[in-house]
Amino acid sequence: MSTKRQIQNIALIGFMGTGKSSVGQIVAAQLHFTFLDTDHVIEARTGNTISEIFAQQGEPAFRALEKKIVAELVTRKKTVISTGGGLPANPDNLASLKTHCLVVCLWASPEKIWERVRSQTHRPLLQEPDPLAKIRALLAEREPCYRQADVLLNTEARALKDVALQVIHQYHAAK
Ligand code: S3P
Repeated sequence: MSTKRQIQNIALIGFMGTGKSSVGQIVAAQLHFTFLDTDHVIEARTGNTISEIFAQQGEPAFRALEKKIVAELVTRKKTVISTGGGLPANPDNLASLKTHCLVVCLWASPEKIWERVRSQTHRPLLQEPDPLAKIRALLAEREPCYRQADVLLNTEARALKDVALQVIHQYHAAK
């Protein structure tokens, strides 16, 4: 059974540090859409930070919360959804987003990602002795999922606002 696709929203997927939240906020402001960040929804709903959820309940509990939110998003309209970096690694999540969103993946190399996230401490998966090696391994593992996006945008040589303009252009072209 195939579900008819109705593009009402934009979903930004991609690895940590590719600019999903920053780009998503610019796109939402320009299009007069609502901005929603799945990590923020999880934190608001549980009253815990992502790091606390990973530490106290483990990653599978976090992934279950993500899955629940993705299922709820199907009723959204005019929303830019910024997703956690691991969310599309679950094929059900990606399939669900595709029914109502143009799915855009923001891309960057492991070195660029490391440069962007190295001063931050809120990502439990990168609290490792060798974070760059972890980024390389996780990105390689997830690349096939990210490549299933409708649009793949390299963010390395572009300012955030230019990436946002590209997203908007692709959205108009897809409507
Ligand atoms: C994760 C990415 C994070 C957050 C959590 C796990 C991942 O979101 O969901 O720390 O598995 O890549 P960002 O991509 O917004 O950093």
